[in-house]
Amino acid sequence: MQNDPFMRTYSPRQEAIARAAQQQTGVQTAAATRPASSGSSVDLLAPYMVTREPYYRGVSDEIELYEAAYSVRMPMMLKGPTGCGKTRFVEYMAWKLQKPLITVACNEDMTASDLVGRFLLDSNGTRWQDGPLAVAARHGAICYLDEVVEARQDTTVVIHPLTDARRVLPLEKKGELIQAHPDFQIVISYNPGYQSLMKDLKQSTKQRFGALDFNYPEHDTEAEIVAHESGVSLDVAKNLVHIGERARNLKGHGLDEGLSTRMLIYAGSLIAKGVAPLAACRVALVRPITDDADMRDALDSAVTTYF
Ligand SMILES: Nc1ncnc2c1ncn2[C@@H]1O[C@H](COP(=O)(O)OP(=O)(O)OP(=O)(O)O)[C@@H](O)[C@H]1O
Ligand SMILES: [Mg+2]
Repeated sequence: MQNDPFMRTYSPRQEAIARAAQQQTGVQTAAATRPASSGSSVDLLAPYMVTREPYYRGVSDEIELYEAAYSVRMPMMLKGPTGCGKTRFVEYMAWKLQKPLITVACNEDMTASDLVGRFLLDSNGTRWQDGPLAVAARHGAICYLDEVVEARQDTTVVIHPLTDARRVLPLEKKGELIQAHPDFQIVISYNPGYQSLMKDLKQSTKQRFGALDFNYPEHDTEAEIVAHESGVSLDVAKNLVHIGERARNLKGHGLDEGLSTRMLIYAGSLIAKGVAPLAACRVALVRPITDDADMRDALDSAVTTYF
């Protein structure tokens, strides 16, 4: 299986190293409130460049639509179930557009400071450290907030002034207003299946974004993806996709979520390593998704139909 070597998450440590290197070579960081276009931004964002083309199989017109959205810097929301290609898509688009990509995995403990930045204490006293959103806005990256709905609403609202015509990010604690760099764009992912009344994006957040719907690809496309990513033959991949489709029909009838493309790739990877298909499917498809004995039997029989 090809793993995700392209995934670049924000690392304060990496940023600190880059800053130290700049200071040594005498490169000045750009003036705080101006969009930076100097070499320093290029150096700072270098670790976030996607240098190798990620494999992404277009399923509809999403590539052209995203390019159009980026050209007007429209904030974008990628909607769809887990494991259907949202992250891979944004990695691919960052590579295609040759823009750095800063990914933030959101969770409910995340605070606004985790996104925007904070003062840190070090041997020289206090110094400000930009958070990933501030780095992206100041220096011009695509900022991908993964599963943004997991973040508390008081955290989510910090993106509001960046996602309307103002395109600014106030750093209240620092007393600075960052005017977003012309290359900056914000992208969020969102799994509509997980939402409840308590946990959903506010309309005032949703309505700041354009949205692309993602889903499991149709049969032949998904088989092509599974074969490519796992290394199994197209025939084996097609059988895996048949099993996936059977399992997806059980969604809402005992299964909470469909069986993802990612799981099919896992099963294929085990088969490609020589594991017997039945065992591979049990480990990668059936056991992770349910503990219910009847449901496991139903899925096992789908597996034995095809292998
Ligand atoms: N259209 C596609 N082209 C290429 N690979 C794909 C495609 N769709 C899915 N994949 C494969 O499926 C795997 C899972 O996709 P990805 O990690 O992008 O899912 P996701 O939608 O971001 O899921 P989550 O919501 O759990 O983060 C990828 O690593 C990739 O191998
Ligand atoms: Mg993802």
